[in-house]
Amino acid sequence: MGMEKPFSVAIDGPSGAGKSTIARASALRFGFIYVDTGAMYRTIGLAALRSGLGPHEQEGVRALLPGLRIDLRYGPSGEQRMFLGDEDVSALIRTQEVAMYASCVSSMPEVRAHLLEAQRSLARTHDVIMDGRDIATVVLPDADLKIFLTASAEKRAERRWEELRARGSEEEFGQVLREIVERDRQDEERAAAPLKIAEGAVVVDTSELSLKESVERVCALIEERLGGVRG
Ligand code: DC
Repeated sequence: MGMEKPFSVAIDGPSGAGKSTIARASALRFGFIYVDTGAMYRTIGLAALRSGLGPHEQEGVRALLPGLRIDLRYGPSGEQRMFLGDEDVSALIRTQEVAMYASCVSSMPEVRAHLLEAQRSLARTHDVIMDGRDIATVVLPDADLKIFLTASAEKRAERRWEELRARGSEEEFGQVLREIVERDRQDEERAAAPLKIAEGAVVVDTSELSLKESVERVCALIEERLGGVRG
């Protein structure tokens, strides 16, 4: 990054729309850092789970927050790693159980406030592509480009189910779909920073797009906006 004001791309959308894969690929292409904010919520979810709390025990989660040390670092190939204290929990936060905990703790305003400054600070100091649920609406309302990335629940469940099968898991398709619909509902209906399309956001529906096509579409939007800002 030179003397220029950092460039920021906010990508929001429901789980399974391909946000992280598409954001990571686009960040790599433009030399921006990729910030996966869901991983931050997952790390708090993991901490709650490990403390023996149930996903809805908000009092307990609140009590946990002041003592939590959550760090986002970048590995040798530029990949984001999440640390809970000194432990690299990047792989451990990728389970369905932690996802459900993350969804629950993320409905708490105290948890969101706890992460907000770290998220904003990254965008003040780096060119970023940041993805989550409230990036364009709350975290970076002045982002240079706002994208709402979505796909039908069935398509998202299909992709998730194939991913699980490839890893040898035998979860039923119906179950995967139910979990996706349930998480959407929680993320959209919560009072604190619900998932919604920000004003000025470009909606990209990936239901009928391949991954490659989705990346191309997002990169074209960035290219165009970047040209407008930096010539
Ligand atoms: O994108 P993900 O599945 O890793 O996100 C995990 C949970 O965190 C998800 O249920 C929604 C929540 N989340 C959020 O509330 N705000 C964000 N900016 C990112 C994720």
